[in-house]
Amino acid sequence: MKNITIGLFGFGCVGQGLYETINSSNNFNGEIKKICIKHPEKHRKLPAHLFTTNASEILQDEDIDIIVELIDDAKAAKEIVFSALQNGKSVVTANKKMIAENLQELVALQEETGKAVLYEGAVCGSIPVIRTLEEYFGHEPLNEIKGIFNGSTNYILTQLFEKQLDYDQALADAQQLGFAEADPSLDVKGYDAKYKLSILLTHAFGLFVKPEHIFNQGIDAISNGDLDFARQNDLEIKLMASAYRFKDKVFGFVLPQFIKKDHSLINVKNEFNAVSLIGEFCDEQRFIGKGAGSLPTGAAVLSDVSALSYDYRYEYKKQDRKSQISFSNDALLEVYVSFDQPHRIELDAFDNISERYFSFDQSYVIGEISLKALIKKDWINKGGINLVLTSKSPRICLGKLSIEGLKSELEELQKGKELLSRIAI
Ligand code: HSE
Repeated sequence: MKNITIGLFGFGCVGQGLYETINSSNNFNGEIKKICIKHPEKHRKLPAHLFTTNASEILQDEDIDIIVELIDDAKAAKEIVFSALQNGKSVVTANKKMIAENLQELVALQEETGKAVLYEGAVCGSIPVIRTLEEYFGHEPLNEIKGIFNGSTNYILTQLFEKQLDYDQALADAQQLGFAEADPSLDVKGYDAKYKLSILLTHAFGLFVKPEHIFNQGIDAISNGDLDFARQNDLEIKLMASAYRFKDKVFGFVLPQFIKKDHSLINVKNEFNAVSLIGEFCDEQRFIGKGAGSLPTGAAVLSDVSALSYDYRYEYKKQDRKSQISFSNDALLEVYVSFDQPHRIELDAFDNISERYFSFDQSYVIGEISLKALIKKDWINKGGINLVLTSKSPRICLGKLSIEGLKSELEELQKGKELLSRIAI
């Protein structure tokens, strides 16, 4: 292995994890020469001469072979990564938002400059999913890739179901343990899992799908009523990122999902992530490992640095396919939608409804809704409403069924609620 000189951007949770994993590896032949940080006033354990606030000091240093970018600001990360490549340096990054939003340009820039970008640490922490897709599944058509792609939300849901901990406390713990993003709404609203799914769509199916075209719903709207519904039905909830291929169409989305006690991923708990894929020939494969945290993610970054030292690069093999595959939101999902007020739910958005429960405290309907309708989702974001996927797989859209009868029931419920609130006044 060549002796590697690293220029590091960011010294937060993952940066420190990388530093520790390098120091603890007894066969890694390399060192971090300089670390660019934003807040020089912060107390650090390492000698001051290692730090700088001047990015050019690293980007222009001819002794530095590899740039490692581990900051949380996606815009600044893009500038660093793009200028590193243009300066003739290969890069390791773990910034999933930046990668998901710019992957097609990043692939073009790698071709143009001949330099490489590796980002295993950006997707499911320590699970080597990108290299597995690239190297092992490069030529096998995949039918499905899904799983638990966010450690913080899995940690929170585990605490809610197993320790009956309160949501705010569980989120505070996930932040304190270094699992959550600097802005934890990216975790709990499902954006982080969506960025990871968007990246995997490229490596699994050869598609470039910008995050805004993928529907995401997180766990922040889960109510006590939803938790009770799950417990009463012997279910748990996991935040799942899923992509399915039907012939030449791929559908993908991020949603909390009810999971039965015998589900293959039920025992994936706390900050662990899981990737489950179905290949045309190999059938199902599962990968489980820590998806967040300083050392597991630092180890994934170290593995990428080491891979660059022997000139490894992603080949994006799935792009060279014979048949054209495209991303689509023309699929129906069966969802449970709960609401605290009858006027919140838009029954017209459903294609059909198979079950409903209307009461004064908490109501829900279970029915099929298209991803197209969900992605418009104005009514879903207004509060007092939550969506959970049932355990059924999505299917291609069929015709719309009438739900007029249910609408009049809801109107009655609304009148009842208004009457009650007038009496209460
Ligand atoms: N915030 C992320 C998570 C970190 O909780 O999974 C790892 O990408």
